[in-house]
Amino acid sequence: MKLPRLLFPAAIACAIICSCASHSTIGAGKDVEQRVESILSKMTLAEKIGQMNQVSAGADVSNYADALRAGSIGSILNEVDPVKINEFQRICVEESRLGIPLLVARDVIHGFHTVFPIPLGLAATFDPALVEAGARVAALEATAQGVRWTFSPMLDIARDPRWGRIAEGSGEDTYLDARMAEAMVRGYQGTQLDSTSMAACIKHFVGYGAGEGGRDYNSTYLTERQLRNVYLPPFEAAVKAGAMTLMTSFNDNDGVPSTGNTFVVKDVLRGEWGFDGLVVTDWNSMGEMINHGFGTDRKDVAAKAANAGVDMDMMTYGFLSHLEELVKSGDVKVSTIDNAVRNILRVKILLGLFENPYIDVEAAAAVQYAPEHLAAAQKSAEQSAILLKNDGILPLAPGRRILVTGPMADAPHDQLGTWAFDGEKQHTVTPLQALRDRFPGKVDYVPGLSFSREKRQGFADVIAAARKADVILVFLGEEAILSGEAHSLADLNLQGSQSDLLAALKTTGKPVVATVMAGRPLTIERDLPNCNAVLYSFHPGTMGGPALANVIFGDVNPSGRTPITFLRTVGQAPLYYSHNMTGRPYTGQTLIDDIPLEAGQTSLGNTSYYLDYGAYPLFPFGYGLSYTSFEYSGIATDRAEYGVDDTIEVSFTLANTGKYDGEEVVQVYVRDLVGSVTRPVKELKHFERVFLKAGESRQLTVSIPTEELAFYGLDMVKKVEPGDFQLWVAGDSASGKPVSFKVK
Ligand code: GLC
Repeated sequence: MKLPRLLFPAAIACAIICSCASHSTIGAGKDVEQRVESILSKMTLAEKIGQMNQVSAGADVSNYADALRAGSIGSILNEVDPVKINEFQRICVEESRLGIPLLVARDVIHGFHTVFPIPLGLAATFDPALVEAGARVAALEATAQGVRWTFSPMLDIARDPRWGRIAEGSGEDTYLDARMAEAMVRGYQGTQLDSTSMAACIKHFVGYGAGEGGRDYNSTYLTERQLRNVYLPPFEAAVKAGAMTLMTSFNDNDGVPSTGNTFVVKDVLRGEWGFDGLVVTDWNSMGEMINHGFGTDRKDVAAKAANAGVDMDMMTYGFLSHLEELVKSGDVKVSTIDNAVRNILRVKILLGLFENPYIDVEAAAAVQYAPEHLAAAQKSAEQSAILLKNDGILPLAPGRRILVTGPMADAPHDQLGTWAFDGEKQHTVTPLQALRDRFPGKVDYVPGLSFSREKRQGFADVIAAARKADVILVFLGEEAILSGEAHSLADLNLQGSQSDLLAALKTTGKPVVATVMAGRPLTIERDLPNCNAVLYSFHPGTMGGPALANVIFGDVNPSGRTPITFLRTVGQAPLYYSHNMTGRPYTGQTLIDDIPLEAGQTSLGNTSYYLDYGAYPLFPFGYGLSYTSFEYSGIATDRAEYGVDDTIEVSFTLANTGKYDGEEVVQVYVRDLVGSVTRPVKELKHFERVFLKAGESRQLTVSIPTEELAFYGLDMVKKVEPGDFQLWVAGDSASGKPVSFKVK
């Protein structure tokens, strides 16, 4: 195989990549910059514009070979065949004038071939190290096949479970989202860039998860303060973690579509954070600015995107078609294009694509589904399972006759969840398979429903089978297609006749253990009375079956915690723990069934709530049961007053007061009682997993720098405001008693 023309001896290349200066957020150094300038200086305007063009494999391109040879394509997405990727690269590197390699991208969202729990499930682990390890596995498998850029992690904070893409993010909380973002960036890219590094793409910048009504692609109305205090911090954390690329979002925020939003892209991302990575649009999000009514035609929106600081156009062909004339007309400066191409070349150089553009096709297959990859996916699925109810039936004792039923008991495709493009259902191990393997001859299976939306009258077959069983394991939830992009729901109850199936099972008098596999928190309040225990597993991926079997039978003590508030009913949306106090906070007032007849207008207590459902959730953020129990005591800060440069040391004793070893997710929340603007009733500022053996107790201390309490106040300057604070150390966002301290 001929070597690429722009060859640098590996030693020099390695020196270049390793000589990282601090000014670059993505780890470039002066040698990389020199190399960028050297290549840029040789490029024609057409070649520069070609680098800014991203095309999806299989798209309507007259002839990829000609376009690649002409240098008209800088990146391709959705090609994962290593042979084809090598051929695309060969044309770029050996037949184009400058031999600039292609950047090959794919949505590797929660695993490549080995599929991990969906990101919402990964967030439920509250375990950044575990999530980083999973992202590393995804990178090993994807880069082995030639994918060097993933459109992940998705950092969209979501507080409305009607939104289907809530599945793809880390839930409702800024702090948790930021920790997960850092972990995935590190996992994808690796601690040292090499041939297994896959450039992360933090998305969707910004505010996409706040679409009105939970409808995908919908408009958002986030103020600058809300952006800076809630939605931007995870992106800033990911940039600091070295994320190499970023994707602009579909939504218009306060009337400005992100792909043309100079404030967020140029002023904040580039100006304030110094991001020198690559900014790509979302799929045709440039072209969609015409639909938004933000641009008149493709030329207009191409100019708006380029001048806002976007480097690469995914599937609008706006840059390719119009940038040359926009330069001639002066609407876009050459310097703008040069900066975009610098950002693209910088990523390609840092990934080592000039030195190693090709992949070893034979070696690619050996990496996929490696045993250690499957083990990592299983561990993630085990730790993401959330125990929501348990009357003591769990952990199940072995040796009992089991009836397995429900539409998700043996659903190898749907168990993988949304955005599992390269997952292969034949590799999925379902709960049914895992239980049959574990208890041969002891497991009966009557599905009752064959898919989650199925409607059916009566379950005589299931009830008859239940009569022979000692315990019923029912697996419910959503087909994968019911969450993810463009899949918002207005009704969050279990689909089809699943609740009827549960009610029928209840009539048998046999214990019922329900496991829900879904892409979002569903409204399951009406189902709880029909279950002795409920495990919640956000689509657990390839190894979900063995993972859930291990939890149900006690090999693993469940430690998942809700990364998102569970609603009592969809009418409560949006409902999240870090809400503002309001002038009339809800304190559990009268609900509709207790309202007396002819009740006086003001007799119910005028507070912010729903007469029929109140304003408390079914399960709060950070919640999850264990087979054991944990107790917190002796919570105290080391001082009563702190300066803005101090560190708050909060100590406490955590005891495992039950009879099982287990992990607790210790959570520390803080409230700023009075600010120059109103502040949330509490905000997560720390979490950590603590393992304690049954009966063990431990004295622990958590350190929180006072500067973590900073926020953008009335003057839009980020700072800690002196005053009174409260702090909770607890096992979820609704528990515990606060301790107080001051900041002077
Ligand atoms: C989609 C998604 C984005 C994804 C991109 C490429 O429309 O919004 O998250 O990365 O297109 O598939």
